[in-house]
Amino acid sequence: MDMKKLAGDKAAEYVKDGMVLGLGTGSTAYHMVNAVGELVKNGMKLKAIPTSKATEAQAKELGIPLLTIDEVDHIDLAIDGVDEIDPQFNAIKGGGGALYREKVVATLADQVMWIMDESKLVDKIGAFHLPVEIAQYGSKQAMKQMEDYGFHPVLRVKDGKTFVTDNGNYIADLHLGAGFDIDDVYGKLTGMLGVLEHGLFLNMCKRIIVGCSSGEVKVIENSGK
Ligand code: 5RP
Repeated sequence: MDMKKLAGDKAAEYVKDGMVLGLGTGSTAYHMVNAVGELVKNGMKLKAIPTSKATEAQAKELGIPLLTIDEVDHIDLAIDGVDEIDPQFNAIKGGGGALYREKVVATLADQVMWIMDESKLVDKIGAFHLPVEIAQYGSKQAMKQMEDYGFHPVLRVKDGKTFVTDNGNYIADLHLGAGFDIDDVYGKLTGMLGVLEHGLFLNMCKRIIVGCSSGEVKVIENSGK
């Protein structure tokens, strides 16, 4: 049972003719992008903004008409994956390193929907590392600041090299532990010198779609949005 595919396919049911869509990044979003590609193939008229170069390449391959973030005057619906989410809809995103573009698109979207397998549902977020996108210039200073706050940052490395985001920056992964003080960390990271954006997405989504090992797909609405 591919729980990520279950969620990705279900998400496509919320895509309507004429929409401007935000297309997320990651292994769950991959299935959703395929499903959106199928809608386009079947004649649906929509336009989309990808949140990473990887999603852009996939969408182009599928013939999904694309726009850049600066070409749109609105986004109807952003659909994306998530790394961890608690019952208050506080989430950690950015496991794939696309958190900046994902946050821009989610912030501008009329509605945000996240898709996931059931492992992403947690009581308290923080067991998963919190990704923070930092400028290369002065990155050691930013790391030191986060260390001094007790955030246990680790510079992300991929294939033996420092990981560089689509925006040309580094990622610091913070090891905070489940149950960390969300408001405190959010406050300290927001506006910190050298920090472009962080992966705390607090109460931003309207709905989550969860693919379960039983084969069930749960749709959970956020009544606070
Ligand atoms: C990428 C993300 C992803 O949405 C998140 O990491 C979930 O990925 P996956 O669906 O592969 O588990 O935030 O930056």
